[in-house]
This record gives sequence, structure tokens and C-alpha cells, in this order.
Amino acid sequence: MTATVLVVDFGAQYAQLIARRVREAHVYSEIVPATITAAEVARRAPAALILSGGPRSVYETPAPSLDPEIYELGIPTLGICYGAQLMAQQLGGEVARTGAGEYGRTELERRGPSSLLAEQPERSTCWMSHGDAIARAPEGFVVTAATPGAPVAVMEDDARRRYAVQFHPEVVHSEFGQEMLARFLHHLAGVAPTWTNTSIIDEAVESVRAQVGAERVLCALSGGVDSAVAAALVIRAVGRQLTCVFVDTGLMRENEGEQIEATFTRQFGVDFIHVRAAERFFAALEGVEDPEAKRKIIGERFIREFEAVARELGAGGAGPRFLVQGTLYPDVIESGSGHAATIKSHHNVGGLPEDLDFELVEPLRRLFKDEVRTVGTELGLPEEIVWRQPFPGPGLGVRIIGEVTPERAEILRRADAVVVDEIRRAGLYRELWQSFAVLPAVRTVGVMGDGRTYAYPIVIRAVTSDDAMTADWARLPYDLVERIANRLIREVEGVNRVALDVTSKPPGTIEWE
Ligand code: XMP
Repeated sequence: MTATVLVVDFGAQYAQLIARRVREAHVYSEIVPATITAAEVARRAPAALILSGGPRSVYETPAPSLDPEIYELGIPTLGICYGAQLMAQQLGGEVARTGAGEYGRTELERRGPSSLLAEQPERSTCWMSHGDAIARAPEGFVVTAATPGAPVAVMEDDARRRYAVQFHPEVVHSEFGQEMLARFLHHLAGVAPTWTNTSIIDEAVESVRAQVGAERVLCALSGGVDSAVAAALVIRAVGRQLTCVFVDTGLMRENEGEQIEATFTRQFGVDFIHVRAAERFFAALEGVEDPEAKRKIIGERFIREFEAVARELGAGGAGPRFLVQGTLYPDVIESGSGHAATIKSHHNVGGLPEDLDFELVEPLRRLFKDEVRTVGTELGLPEEIVWRQPFPGPGLGVRIIGEVTPERAEILRRADAVVVDEIRRAGLYRELWQSFAVLPAVRTVGVMGDGRTYAYPIVIRAVTSDDAMTADWARLPYDLVERIANRLIREVEGVNRVALDVTSKPPGTIEWE
């Protein structure tokens, strides 16, 4: 079993970022709630503990705390920001409400020899975000660095392998943050850097084999990276026991179905069922304008189509008993903590009727998105699939504002291909979270050549984001916007106007519906 580092979550989004950085240092990490008991920590026997930052003050009542017996387990521990202050307070030091605080880039200055900062220069830039500060380190700790607003910015107790930093090493603006984390993990906690692509794949393969044995497995491919990588892992594990199903809803991106089919038939050689269901989706959507109604219809139609294939294959009886699902680690964490708000009804294969009675195979359950991508590349999936931007389950259906018709879907698909092509050419495709076209089903007047036109506008929507919870509208270069606009009007019949969406999230959502 891989050595595990537990990241104790004190709120906000810091813990996930820390857990990802630990993985980048090739050490497996999991997030646990602050309410974890010493007995539970002992049972899980982690190689190290990291206490995350959080939005609260140790002085608040009730302030999130940590079972003090955890410190007695002898596990190497690193406290970050709130976690550092909590360590100071619980181990007998002192935290003061300075009121001043430090926010953003701050100069960190080393004070004497340090185990944690040994590989860093005397002065460096770190990222701060704190109101309170540690005023006095607990007994046994040596203060090894300070900033103007934090006299105890770093404190270390080598004998007990306890370390605490006021700044945020997980944030990229902390110049040597990642080096410091790696040093804590590899040198001070002695955890070997064994979490690599090879070990991720080996472990997933082993667990899929153990779960499914010689039985048949079914996988619904969506065109996106998660389902493709999940399927590729299952193929690595049990090869031709897998059957892939791709339901073409008529609302997919250009070439999406063809590329997925080519990859899984020609490259991986597994059974592939391409359900051409566009007509049935359009029929079901006729006359429907309400966004939630459209989502519901598309979701239900999808299930019906999938169900028909599954029954044909004899699911539950002689057919597949297992269903692959591309659940990622952040989904696991979010469903566990129970506070992920459902703003839109996202459709998933999870809503299959109970009598189909599949057992789920979730080979990505432990992985973050960036790990899914590197694993996908390692397994030989094409770059276009591995790096494809997220796409909503209802597809173009929620990017046509108004009734969905085959004609509008075709216009939007072609417009979207132009947007994506230009974004790729500009080298921006990977750094943007999403970039796509939206078709509001209103028509406006234009003039082209010597004729009057009456056609649809296309809205360019491009955002940057880390996790889709918040997003910023992308400042695309104007000459790129111009190229996209020119091509849209020249190449996509039915379009005579182009607009740029400059709404961030909040207040907007990324998708228009
Ligand atoms: P919004 O529009 O809510 O979207 O800001 C956040 C992220 O979720 C994607 N999205 C979906 N994904 N099924 C999905 O699998 C859906 O129904 C769905 N709706 C939105 C969206 O593309 C963005 O990345």
C-alpha cells in the first residue's frame, strides 16, 4: 500500500490545493475533515500530516480545532497558516490578534539554520494571508524565519518532527513553496516519492482486476477526458472484457464521436457501440425552451438510450454486470462533505434505473484532474482527448438559448469548431478553462455584400478558472477576437453577428443555461 499523507481540512479551498501539491511531489495524499480523531489517524497510519489553512481565527468560538492526542502519535506534522497557529496554540505557544495582518506577496527572511528552508536563499518571496500571528513559539520549537508582520513565520521542532509555516507554500506566488513542501515530505518526514504515473496505473489496474474478475464491463464514453481515461485504464486491466457505448445525442462537438470511436476501435480494439440517436433527441426537444426542462429531457433520453443498449447486451443476466464511471477525487470529497450546492441539475450516468443493477467501477476515484490527464497520455490517448476542455452533459443543448433544432445545432457546432480552432492556433486552448460558442436563438439584421441579412448572433464565451466554482472572463487579444469574428461570419452560414461575453462567475455561470 502506498504511503499516504493526510491533509486535515480547516475549511475554504486550501486543503485541495495542498493535496495536489503533495501529489506533485510524488506522494499520495488524502483530505480528511478537522473532526478526525486520534484513533482514526492512528488506524490510517499516515506517513505525515499537514494541517491546512482556513478562513477562521483560533480565537473564534467555536474555532475548528484538532484532537490534541493526534500530536502525541509521533507523526511528522506540518502546519500551514491556520494550521500553524493552531499548532502554536495547542502545543503551548501563543497566538496574538495583531489586527494588522499581511495579505499577498511578502518578504520572508531566514533566521539562522533551518531544516525546512535549508535549500532556500536567506530572503525569498512568500504568499501571506493572515490577520492573527504566532507571537510565541511553543517549547521545543526554534523560530527560523520571520516577515515584517509575522515574527514567527516559520518554526521547527526537529526532535519531534513538527513544523509550522505562517505563509502558504501551496500557492504559486510563494517562490520556494513547492521545494519546501518536497523537503518536508522527502527529507524531514522521510516519505519516498513513489506516487508516479506508473504506480497510479499499476494500482488502478490491480484494483479493477480484483473487482471485476472475468466478468464483462460496460462503459459510457462521453467524448470527455474522464470517461476516456477511465475506459483506457479498464482496458489496460481487463482488455476486451470492456464494451464501450457512445450515444450521439446530436449535441456533441465537431468530430467528437468519430474521434472517440477511432481511438477505441482502431487503437484499443474493444467493442464499440455507436448509438446514433440525434433524431430521437431532437424530437424530444421539439418546442422546449426552458433550460431545466431541456436538461431533464436530454438526461432522461440519454438514460433510455443507454438502457436499451444495456438490455440488448443482457445486462444483469449474461451481459455486463459492471459499469465504469469517471468519478474523480474532488467529486468524492465534495459528496462526502455534503456542502456542494447544486445550481444546475448536472446529468450523469449515475441516474440509471435501479433494475439495471450495475456495480460501479471507478478507477479515477483517487485522482485529481491533472493526474487523469498525465495518466491518459501515458496510456496512449490522443492529445485532443486528453486535453479537451470540459463539456456539459447536455452538450450544445444548453448553449442554444431557446428551442433546440437540428439546424441550430449544426450552426453552433460549426461556430464552436471555428472558435476552438482559432483559440488553439493562438496557443490558448490549454490555459483557458473553457472557450466555446453560444447561440442565442434570436435573429438580428445585418448587411452582407449588397443584401440584407437576418440571421443568428454567435457569442464567444471564454473563461479562466481553477475548478469551475468561480471563473473570470478571459481577456482574449482583440486581434484574435477579430479573427474569430471574421471567420464565423465568412464560414458559418446563418451567422451575421458576433458578440463577446465579458461576465465572470459569479454573477454569471460559465454556461448560458
Ligand atoms: P456553470 O455553467 O454552472 O458550469 O458555471 C460549471 C462547469 O460545469 C459544466 N457543466 C456541466 N457538466 N453536466 C456536466 O457534466 C452538466 O449538465 C453541466 N452543466 C454545466 C460547465 O461546462 C462548467 O465546466
